[in-house]
Amino acid sequence: MELSDIEELYLHRQSCREFSDREVDEELIREVCRIALLSPSACNAQPWQLIAVMGDKLPEFAKAVQPMGMNKFASSAKALIVVAEDTSGGIMKFGSIFRENTYIKNDLGLLTAHLILAAEAAGLGTCILGARDEKRLRELLGFKKERHIPHVVAVGYPKEGYGLREKKRKSLDETFTLLK
Ligand SMILES: Cc1cc2nc3c(=O)[nH]c(=O)nc-3n(C[C@H](O)[C@H](O)[C@H](O)COP(=O)(O)O)c2cc1C
Repeated sequence: MELSDIEELYLHRQSCREFSDREVDEELIREVCRIALLSPSACNAQPWQLIAVMGDKLPEFAKAVQPMGMNKFASSAKALIVVAEDTSGGIMKFGSIFRENTYIKNDLGLLTAHLILAAEAAGLGTCILGARDEKRLRELLGFKKERHIPHVVAVGYPKEGYGLREKKRKSLDETFTLLK
């Protein structure tokens, strides 16, 4: 693989806000999640769980990511992948002795980056949805304790003709420094 292949993947990955009616295979979602879960985490604690919501359960989860009329397009997603904290399990507890809890947020962010890029490589469109009713999501998922849900990722095939937007990013001069 060349660096230019990665650049191409990054340039093609964009937030998709219009999904096609085309169904997404459950197995493809599982595969994308499996690959995303190769993401690194502090102390390899893997303080996470991905919950892919599909089918009949979609409408109520879509509602939970549409606070104040936002994210209307989420209703056309074929899967909503909830990125949730999960610190249960021996190894994870062991890991937490050596680190501050704040790393959990970083780990969940890294996992999400892996997820959206894996989905892109599978030909799927995604949009991270940070606007969400976290409490409602916890209720829908039957979480007993305060597990953090930083965002949900909407997934589907981009609507036919959904064009590639030019990336708007700060310049390298503003955001990169080389110290020698
Ligand atoms: C943590 C996070 C939360 C986001 N929440 C939303 C959201 O609720 N709704 C939305 O349409 N886009 C959301 N986005 C997408 C950003 O607006 C988008 O990534 C940014 O504008 C750059 O555009 P691009 O993803 O097309 O490159 C979110 C992105 C991140 C990283």
